[in-house]
Amino acid sequence: MDPWQDAMDHAVAVARRAGTLVRDAVQKDMKVMLKSSSVDLVTQTDQKVENLIIQSVTEKFPTHCFIGEESVAAGEACLLTDQPTWIVDPVDGTTNFVHGYPFVAVSIGFTVNKQLEFGVVYSCLEDKMYTGRKGRGSFCNGLSLQVSSQKDITQSMVATEFGSNRDPEVVDKIFCSMRRILCLPVHGMRGAGSAALNMCHVAAGSVEVYYETGIHCWDVAAAGVIVTEAGGLLMDVDGGPFDLMSRRVVAVNCQIIGDRVVKQIECFSPQRDDEG
Ligand code: IPD
Repeated sequence: MDPWQDAMDHAVAVARRAGTLVRDAVQKDMKVMLKSSSVDLVTQTDQKVENLIIQSVTEKFPTHCFIGEESVAAGEACLLTDQPTWIVDPVDGTTNFVHGYPFVAVSIGFTVNKQLEFGVVYSCLEDKMYTGRKGRGSFCNGLSLQVSSQKDITQSMVATEFGSNRDPEVVDKIFCSMRRILCLPVHGMRGAGSAALNMCHVAAGSVEVYYETGIHCWDVAAAGVIVTEAGGLLMDVDGGPFDLMSRRVVAVNCQIIGDRVVKQIECFSPQRDDEG
């Protein structure tokens, strides 16, 4: 008997309801607001969806804790404890959402004793429900996922993002890493505009590796389980162990490609999520 099956079923159901809200809103005029910078966008839908998820989970699991992107933006602490904790990004790919670019996801991760137990990533506009449960595999719309078997970086597709930091020194580091990786050479570089969906693409085998510095725990918690349960690995951008609060991630199909990619990455360390 899986102690968290009920919670996972609830996450899938609420992600579908949230997805309907997102799909309805994408057709309409929306009010765009700014967060950490003029390119870090947020809309009323982000807030509405997060409230929907928190309210619905609280009714069913009143003792559980939350880390939600918009609650943290509104001043709540971002501290991971041993308690069962829902880590929620109501709209991952907000810039895509604002522009009607079709990769927009509701992301719900769940930890107990600081360990990721399950993840649900619903790609609302594509109607793809990605799920991963520790020890039980990962799936997209019910079909089992498996990472690519490729071991050669020069035969690989690499995903990354520019992020929302436009400090020229940071942008230089991002371009420097991209240039090095592109010139290895690799088959191609892509970015879906959603960290969670980039990671689901690693899990599905359509890209071998995704890396980014500057993401937050709510962007990667859910998809982290989906990647590892599809046979992939999570690493830090310096090749060390993945740390959910460090704002750095490499999600990769195998150690060989991970080791090769991290050698090309210019590391930097944004303020940790748990030091905000
Ligand atoms: C962002 C997206 C984007 C990534 C940023 C994230 P948001 O999340 O995942 O692809 O480059 O680092 O913050 O703000 O749309 O939830």
